[in-house]
Amino acid sequence: MSCALVGAPVQSGSATPGCLMGPDAYRTAGLAEVLQTLGHRVTDRGNVAQAEIKDLTHDNAAVHHLTDIVAWADALEGAAYEAASAVDMPIFLGGDHALAIGTVPGVARHAAEAGKPLFVLWLDAHPDIHTPDTTTSGNLHGTPVAYFLGMDGFDGVYPALKTRVAPENVCMMGIRSVDPAENAALTAQGVEVHDMRAIDEHGIIKPLRAFLDRVRSADGALHVSLDVDFLDPTIAPAVGTTVPGGATFREAHLIMETLCDSGLVTSLDMVELNPFLDDRGRTAKLMVDLCASLLGRTVLDRPTRSF
Ligand code: ARG
Ligand code: MN
Ligand code: MN
Ligand code: MN
Repeated sequence: MSCALVGAPVQSGSATPGCLMGPDAYRTAGLAEVLQTLGHRVTDRGNVAQAEIKDLTHDNAAVHHLTDIVAWADALEGAAYEAASAVDMPIFLGGDHALAIGTVPGVARHAAEAGKPLFVLWLDAHPDIHTPDTTTSGNLHGTPVAYFLGMDGFDGVYPALKTRVAPENVCMMGIRSVDPAENAALTAQGVEVHDMRAIDEHGIIKPLRAFLDRVRSADGALHVSLDVDFLDPTIAPAVGTTVPGGATFREAHLIMETLCDSGLVTSLDMVELNPFLDDRGRTAKLMVDLCASLLGRTVLDRPTRSF
């Protein structure tokens, strides 16, 4: 299939600088070459340029870099919409998770024009469902989900949302660090959450297959948003917000292989990689390998299981 790499060097949504280097770390780790080896046509669209920065303030004094994030949001929404219109599989190279303020609405707009609802699989230690009013850290990478669900608290703050995602179309996995206001928002919105306790009890495959069945029966498009901190810090140290008890190497690859078999995924975010915190590039390489599993790399050259 046709794939586009879209760099989104956003880092002001997080507290630890370094995500700026994420897109180039993926390039250095050979992402384009790996996908070409799998038979895909890959174009690297370079990095998105931030829009003009306008002056903005917010009542919540904890909020920082609001103007910067808003300048990214519009540029990324447009870039994501264009890339999704041009190729089968846009891959957004972060950058911190604030980039999903642009990428998710952009691919949602493209899906809506094709008459498809957008579904989102959120693979993360965190639900990132704060609003600028509820965040206590002020780190805006904690806000994209609340924004693309169309929750209150963004009017006059982030750009007007063009295409919202329905909360029943979002599935979160790997969640293990939730702030009180986020707990309330998850319940109020009715988002499907498989926290780490649920994954320990039931595994990842049954809930993932159930979600994929829902995407298939709705004839939906599926965006996967993969945060490095979804993974256990022992295998993926290059992230500013490590949380112990994350997904294992094998769980993460099995998710990607199952997603590949489904044929439903239409776009991907790879976020929060902080190369400054990496150990000889191993987190970048792991993320590239996970992307390869999502796009068809298998152990055997015959199917292990037919879907
Ligand atoms: N909930 C915390 C906060 O709002 C952590 C957010 C982490 N988000 C992320 N994209 N890594 O600060
Ligand atoms: Mn498309
Ligand atoms: Mn996140
Ligand atoms: Mn996270």
